[in-house]
Amino acid sequence: MTSSQVYTWEPSDRAIAERYGLRAQDVLRFDTNTSPAAPEFAAALLAEPFDPPLNEYPDSSYGDLTAAAAAYLGVATDRVVVGAGADEILDLAGKAWLGEGRRTLIPTPTYPMYAVLSSQRGAVIERIPRRQPAEGYALDVEALVARLDGAAVVWLCAPNNPTGAPEDPAKLAAILDAAGALEPAPIVVIDEAYAEFVTESAVAWLDRYDHLLVVRTVSKAFGLAGVRVGYAVGARRLIAALETVRPPGSISTVSAALAAAALRRPGIARENAARLSAEREWLAAGLSARGWRAVPSVTNFLLVSIGSAADADAAAEHLLRSGIVPRTFPGDHPLAGHLRLTVRSRDQDERLLAAVERWPSVTDSATRHP
Ligand SMILES: Cc1ncc(COP(=O)(O)O)c(C=O)c1O
Repeated sequence: MTSSQVYTWEPSDRAIAERYGLRAQDVLRFDTNTSPAAPEFAAALLAEPFDPPLNEYPDSSYGDLTAAAAAYLGVATDRVVVGAGADEILDLAGKAWLGEGRRTLIPTPTYPMYAVLSSQRGAVIERIPRRQPAEGYALDVEALVARLDGAAVVWLCAPNNPTGAPEDPAKLAAILDAAGALEPAPIVVIDEAYAEFVTESAVAWLDRYDHLLVVRTVSKAFGLAGVRVGYAVGARRLIAALETVRPPGSISTVSAALAAAALRRPGIARENAARLSAEREWLAAGLSARGWRAVPSVTNFLLVSIGSAADADAAAEHLLRSGIVPRTFPGDHPLAGHLRLTVRSRDQDERLLAAVERWPSVTDSATRHP
């Protein structure tokens, strides 16, 4: 399938407020998998004498930020490349390795940007459906490996968005081994945007596989989505390929300094992830008590089964009227009938539960949408 694919960006708080007759400050983003608060040091740093030379362009090598990311991961600096969010890193991978007619494999459902940026490059997208919900939406390794020969890039997401499920390391290793046995080996991108919520990481395998690129971000556990910094780590030849397509100044001087300062404080991510993981279990129990069953998650978001696609649409409208913005899935999506909800702070999560409380039970809504 080469037809180009359109990604609809999330509507702004203001657009939602206007549509539902609310104040923009009463709109709560349960759709973006971001943190409920930025780390305290960020405001403090911006308030202190913080004097990077703003009249000059940023250091195009982003040496300080790259060194901070490398130290955080415990790898050599020349194995890391930085970008304006994980999204820019993914786009650089598309620029480096995809093009008209090249084949790319995407286990679905997953993060939609892989298909968007692949189609922007004219690549042929092969979607490999994940296994049944009862099997935790696990990767179908056999189906994927059967399609590997001749593929340029395989996009994996661990833990996976939007299911919130971890990936079995043995399955990831089986895909990497099968790709490594081919000549040329397809590049395997493992997007670890939610890495800090789990203990296992493919970073440990970097010396084993020279066709593995691991992608990270400060947007999730570090609570700095607005800063727009992501990075990738991999074999030197992969990093060199990304460096040739990287723009020289896509990360602002201020963002580079904030992200480097965050990466030098790994406790921020660790503590935030621990707090959000505990909050996730509390929220999942609260949703379940109100008839909204959440799929087991290891991340800062929950995939919730609502009923039919019409039920999920109606539930989303109901939440939006209270200023709560869920992530929805269109009728033809494999997750139609579900909503995805970000885990936020206790008071915000209570607002969500209060709105869910006012929603008719799934049985009632099924009757309303025969
Ligand atoms: C799996 C995954 N990768 C990448 C991103 C984008 O990250 P960033 O904010 O660093 O561009 C997201 C954001 O939701 C995501 O869920």
